[in-house]
Amino acid sequence: MRNLIDIKNLNQDDILEIFDYSKTLNNKFSDILKNNNLGLIFEKSSTRTRLSFQVAINNLSGKYIDIKYDELNLSRIESIEDTFKMFNLYLDSIILRTSDHNKFKILKDSFKKPIINALSDKSHPCQAISDLYTLFEHFDRKENIEISWFGDCNNVLFSLIEIVNIFSNIKLNIFTDKNIYLNFSKTIYKSVNIDFFFEIDETVIKSSDCIMTDVFNSMNDTTNKEKLLSKFQVNRKLMSLSKNECVFMHCLPAKIGSEVTQEVIDSDKSITLNQAKNRLTAQRGILQWLNI
Ligand code: CP
Ligand code: NVA
Repeated sequence: MRNLIDIKNLNQDDILEIFDYSKTLNNKFSDILKNNNLGLIFEKSSTRTRLSFQVAINNLSGKYIDIKYDELNLSRIESIEDTFKMFNLYLDSIILRTSDHNKFKILKDSFKKPIINALSDKSHPCQAISDLYTLFEHFDRKENIEISWFGDCNNVLFSLIEIVNIFSNIKLNIFTDKNIYLNFSKTIYKSVNIDFFFEIDETVIKSSDCIMTDVFNSMNDTTNKEKLLSKFQVNRKLMSLSKNECVFMHCLPAKIGSEVTQEVIDSDKSITLNQAKNRLTAQRGILQWLNI
């Protein structure tokens, strides 16, 4: 049985299989989810991930059920473990967005069917899969792609690192604050094709195929990183150091004027809309790969 909780549990063949399914299903939907009921639990807000999963499930002839904790007996007397055990009796898969990554362990112990991580405080595997799909599609190649990440070390970056660890011919440069790095580095394994930088390096920007960023403060992150990370804002000046073919990516939502300027989001180099559109393409591939 397959789950998508973290990228490290997948190998390169799994990811390429998801990409193949994504591409095929983009041209013609199938009814692989017929008679399947998938439960969606979103403890935090979402626009792209929730909607793209809902539409992808519809496209594949399945049904989704939005589950809200406060409408369950969980809010009264039932434990989370017993609640997840009950889900096992009725549902064929669970898609969970949570502030507490440890909940996936509890869920896995109680729910014996495919589980999808729709973002946690630690990781965002669906985003990394979809972003790599977008890069392969845009550059029409699967190798020698160089990504430069600017800003916070967060859940999106964590999964990006995990996917780059699998694809040795992708290079990842991470521009961030040293103290943020020191905390984050304890949580990651990094292969040789990943480097950290604490100052802007024009040569590295010049060789990049993609400049990527995300909010300086993720949901539920109450520390103020704006000042610390302001030198890594992706603005016109920074983008002007990049080569012509270089693209700009952001998982969205963006905090305009913080990690990125409106000008960059709206520029010709920005492929953020295609990136968001591919969330749907990739969700269909993920759902087929899970073999629910
Ligand atoms: N990128 C992303 O996961 O967006 P949402 O928070 O809107 O789902
Ligand atoms: N790092 C962001 C990603 C949102 C899709 C957050 O967790 O808020």
